[in-house]
Amino acid sequence: MNGIPNSPQPLWRDTTIDSFPQLDRDMETDVTVIGSGITGITTAYFLVKKGFKVVLLEAGKVINGTTGYTTAKLSAQHGLIYDHLIRTFGKETAKKYYLANQEGLHYIDDIRTDLKIDCDFSYQPSIVYSAAPSGNRKIEKEAEAYKDLGIDGGLADNSVLPFPIQSAVKMNQQAQFHPLKYLKSLLIYLKQKDTHIFENTRAVDIKKGTLPEVKTRKGHSVLSDHVVIASHFPFKDLNGMYFARLHVERSYTIAVKTNGPPPKGMYLSTEEPKKSLRHALGSNGEELLLIGGEGHTSGQSENTYNHYEKLKEFAEKNFSVKDIPYRWSSQDISTLDRIPYIGPITRNNPNIYVATGFAKWGMSNGTVAGKVISDLITGNGSPYEKLFSPSRFNASQDVKNFTKENMDVAKELFKGKLHRKETDMENLQPNEGGIVNYRGKKLGAYKASNGGVSLVDTTCTHMGCDLQWNTAECSWDCPCHGSRFTPSGEVIEGPATKPLKNYHN
Ligand code: FES
Repeated sequence: MNGIPNSPQPLWRDTTIDSFPQLDRDMETDVTVIGSGITGITTAYFLVKKGFKVVLLEAGKVINGTTGYTTAKLSAQHGLIYDHLIRTFGKETAKKYYLANQEGLHYIDDIRTDLKIDCDFSYQPSIVYSAAPSGNRKIEKEAEAYKDLGIDGGLADNSVLPFPIQSAVKMNQQAQFHPLKYLKSLLIYLKQKDTHIFENTRAVDIKKGTLPEVKTRKGHSVLSDHVVIASHFPFKDLNGMYFARLHVERSYTIAVKTNGPPPKGMYLSTEEPKKSLRHALGSNGEELLLIGGEGHTSGQSENTYNHYEKLKEFAEKNFSVKDIPYRWSSQDISTLDRIPYIGPITRNNPNIYVATGFAKWGMSNGTVAGKVISDLITGNGSPYEKLFSPSRFNASQDVKNFTKENMDVAKELFKGKLHRKETDMENLQPNEGGIVNYRGKKLGAYKASNGGVSLVDTTCTHMGCDLQWNTAECSWDCPCHGSRFTPSGEVIEGPATKPLKNYHN
């Protein structure tokens, strides 16, 4: 790509993280945590501090899911959400949501202070701006909501952004940090406390019961009093209908070296496609401007490179760009009513917990999730149990969004392979994927840089939707619930747990 790294270069992953072994035996413990992003690691941290024995299972490498690919804003300002929350749920719920996320931010500050973690943490104002007059009313209403809820902030009068804006609402004393430096230290803490951490250990099933049993792909099991599914999209549904209640979006980030310092503060536009800005330090201590956005439903973009190009255009139009050394993308999951699902997976399974649907705000919400779930497990109770309960139901919001989401999935299922554009295998360029006709079958083909071709059945192993080739990340992505697979069919992220059917050329 012109001026953008050809392959994904995530900024945070420059940090070296310890490796962990694969689970090679059956085990028993107090709590099994599945997933090693900020939610899983924070849950384990709080539990271990209370004296619980924890086994942490990771399907791939630790901190290599969404947490490794975030913009790492640590904020209770989740776009324009408070006016929506007051109108939908009332003031009390809106205030609780704010307080929960403020606590999430402060837990991170407390933990990094306690463990003396140098993770580039700094307090910053968080600002949502509108670049068009049509956004002014929404901004004003959000500022009114801040006043009603006693949120520290309000309308922002001046802007340091180098382009004109119409209006903005600011939340004071929010923060940003380096997520991998922070979580790396938590993993070291867990290791020192003899926590068992396993990589390359994919959980594929949970047998429910008084002592739920987690089964791994290699055939081992972990028996425990409690299980926490912190694997982003829950791979096990247990009749919770999560597949019908979650929406998955892919968005993109570039890190830009600018001539002159990037603007201080954290920014988000109201207009679509959204633009997110913050500054950060690169691995050599150089100042960078992170520009994120260009979100779309996962697996539903014909050419994902275009989204990086659009971010680059935005950067060049508004900043003096010297270089773009990093680029990455990630998936975010939203719930029907914009509040995460944190708590028992269903009412009938009180010892199996889930934490998902943080939208783009996984740093604060993921930390809150770790605290809420560990409080429920240790029997302390949580003031946020009801707010985040996955079993809640909000008739007006849920029915509307449930219908829209499932119509979209039904459309993708129906479309199947019927309308797929085919290409000739010989025409595939190195590092390119596409649908080919191979001995009368429509298959997904990928040509590696050495000329070798991988052939897979592009039927998603979760619920059968047809996968879309992701040009920028070289993966097969599902348009229904966001499962992703490598060119040779291995699962990158779920809810799918089984690889694609592989064909030998
Ligand atoms: Fe559900 Fe693919 S992730 S069908």
